[in-house]
Amino acid sequence: MSIDAVSQQIKTATSVAVLTGAGVSAESGIPTFRDPGGLWQQYRPEDLATPQAFQRDPRLVWEWYDWRRQKIAQASPNPAHHTLAHMEGLVPEFLLITQNIDDLHGTAGSRRLIELHGCIWRVRCEREGTVHENREVPLKTLPPRCDCGSLLRPDVVWFGEPLAVETQAQAFAAAEVSDVFLTVGTSAIVHPAASLPIVAKDRGAFVAEINPAPTPITPYVDSYLQGPAGVILPQILSMVTQR
Ligand code: OAD
Repeated sequence: MSIDAVSQQIKTATSVAVLTGAGVSAESGIPTFRDPGGLWQQYRPEDLATPQAFQRDPRLVWEWYDWRRQKIAQASPNPAHHTLAHMEGLVPEFLLITQNIDDLHGTAGSRRLIELHGCIWRVRCEREGTVHENREVPLKTLPPRCDCGSLLRPDVVWFGEPLAVETQAQAFAAAEVSDVFLTVGTSAIVHPAASLPIVAKDRGAFVAEINPAPTPITPYVDSYLQGPAGVILPQILSMVTQR
């Protein structure tokens, strides 16, 4: 089905939910994880993105996050981020659920936003569990420490860790009630995020996928729009806002 059909669905929807992944930031110059040249082709997640890796070598983990923070700090939101920020004002109920930790959706102006995997610009004290914003780039001390002396860690979800209960519940509640569910720039293989479009579809939503490459959920969606998010989303928005 076409961009026009997806736009018509959004125009008449009461509730729209959107799931984004690393592909939505690709056009901002942030590497994805599983594309050719992606992060998980160069690095092993078990060395850098697990609680065990952090316990073993907090400095190594922080060096990697510090490098990613430097890359993200130089990036700006692209038309995909801007379009989704605009879209939230056009639909009565809207929720943007992202797996990205780069905050580019927030920078673009999205407010009805859930960051399922946390945010690279927040740090959390290992001992106290307190969270605060930290935008120092590059970090002066690696690994950074809390005032209490304990290690700080990135406030992100690592492999083997559960999502925040409240955040996950909100995301699934939005998927369940959505009339339209868009899955954009995600390989749709990391759960529980990858279950969201399936839950939406089971509950009767119109599900559309935007991605240059098919994913495991492509056979189940109502509309697969093949191409970059920064091109296709603005085309959808322009049709939604046409009289
Ligand atoms: P992946 O790297 O697995 O997938 C990126 C997807 O973006 C692929 O399906 C690409 O085809 C697509 N893509 C590439 N360029 C695009 C573009 N311009 N427009 C639209 N799509 C594009 O990234 P995620 O699905 O986000 O988790 O990965 C999910 C999770 O796995 C991440 O949040 C991270 C990772 O390990 C944790 O670190 C916990």
